[in-house]
Amino acid sequence: MTNREHFGSRAAVIMAMAGSAIGLGNIWRFPYIVGEYGGAAFILIYIVCCFMLSLPILLSEAVIGRRTHQNTFGAMGTLAPGTGWKWLGLLTIVTPVIILSYYSVVGGWSLAFLFKALTLSFRPENAEAVTGMFSEFSSSAWGPIACTLTFLGLTAFIIFSGVKKGIERFSKISMPVLFVLILVIAAYSITLPGSSEGVRYLVRPDFSKLTGDAFSAALGQSFFSLSLGVGTMLIYSSYVRKEEDLIASGAGTAMFDMLFAILAGFAVMPAVFAAGIAPAAGPGLVFETLPFIFAKMGAGGRIISAVIAILFFLTILVAALTSSISMMEVGVAYMVEEKKVSRGKATLGIFAICLVIGVLCSLSFGPLAGFKLAGNTVFNFCDKLCSNYLMTLGALLFSIFVGWKMDKESVRDELTNGGLLKLNGKIFPVLYFLIKYVTPITIAAIFISGLIG
Ligand code: ALA
Repeated sequence: MTNREHFGSRAAVIMAMAGSAIGLGNIWRFPYIVGEYGGAAFILIYIVCCFMLSLPILLSEAVIGRRTHQNTFGAMGTLAPGTGWKWLGLLTIVTPVIILSYYSVVGGWSLAFLFKALTLSFRPENAEAVTGMFSEFSSSAWGPIACTLTFLGLTAFIIFSGVKKGIERFSKISMPVLFVLILVIAAYSITLPGSSEGVRYLVRPDFSKLTGDAFSAALGQSFFSLSLGVGTMLIYSSYVRKEEDLIASGAGTAMFDMLFAILAGFAVMPAVFAAGIAPAAGPGLVFETLPFIFAKMGAGGRIISAVIAILFFLTILVAALTSSISMMEVGVAYMVEEKKVSRGKATLGIFAICLVIGVLCSLSFGPLAGFKLAGNTVFNFCDKLCSNYLMTLGALLFSIFVGWKMDKESVRDELTNGGLLKLNGKIFPVLYFLIKYVTPITIAAIFISGLIG
């Protein structure tokens, strides 16, 4: 793999990984879950989950990726030739393709709502009608399909441009922009009259809400948010040079992801409370509640609220794109390296598969709403299959592979750069203990309790 591309610097690695991590999960799930499960008390649990369970998994994927400089399938074949571990490689090619398919539908919605914001559709005089805009739009056939196609097309264009000119360049430009955008929106949101209740919703520690559920919610959220168990961190790490510090890059990624999630909380919840609306998670929050708020706020300052609406949907679109490219790259790298097809054809192939599944997911909000798989619409089926099962399974298997199948000295070598990184050498025993025992046991327990519960 001598002619493989590499990320150019530590900053590029962190920006790309943080880009993969920061996405819809930070904006539409985190703020709601924080309030539901005890505010600041939950944030503490979330931080513990991130650093004790999720970071070890991220680093497990990173070790495999950087050790082999190969795609997920090739990497497993190199490290465990002739074994069933190649199925883990394949699993982590299938999962991101499914996620990308339904993620693109949501990415498409954000594109449509950015257009609505740009054409000043959220006006005070039609505030009541604004909440119905989302169901009207998402249940129609062609508009959402065209937007899904455009979003997937943008993703494919960045991926086709390559690792340095596509992924690295896009992530390096968009990540700082995303942080500025979310800071501007948060600053605006917390200054709205009546927003203080929303701030309290996020920060008031309520330890009585810290049940077992809160723990699995924190874990699930940090897995989804850090894109674990789907091979994206593995594939990005396969483009990391041997001189880079994997632990520092992983910890930097986890920190940026967490910081963005918290800022998103302050951008969204104070505005929701200022408008006197009950908070909810998911598409309803982003595409119904917030447009309604933007429309109502228009009464107090039309230009400001129009600008905030545009910035908000731009933030969602860019955050979704930095995640979607990482999911497409997993399959593209596999096709290029294992099937020996050109990057262009590989990109087109993954684009086409995602488009077919994406169209079915999109139609499941309208014409195909009655078509059910295991009792769910196609969109919900794909989401549940991936977030509840496939991601967790992938994450569990990666930690078992690195903790039990790989030889300990190879893991140490990779995480300490052959002993050159002295501080990492000191951290290594703790990290290895987390990878080998704590992570797989905890995830297996949660996974099995989810299966039987
Ligand atoms: N990690 C991505 C997100 O949070 C999938 O949206």
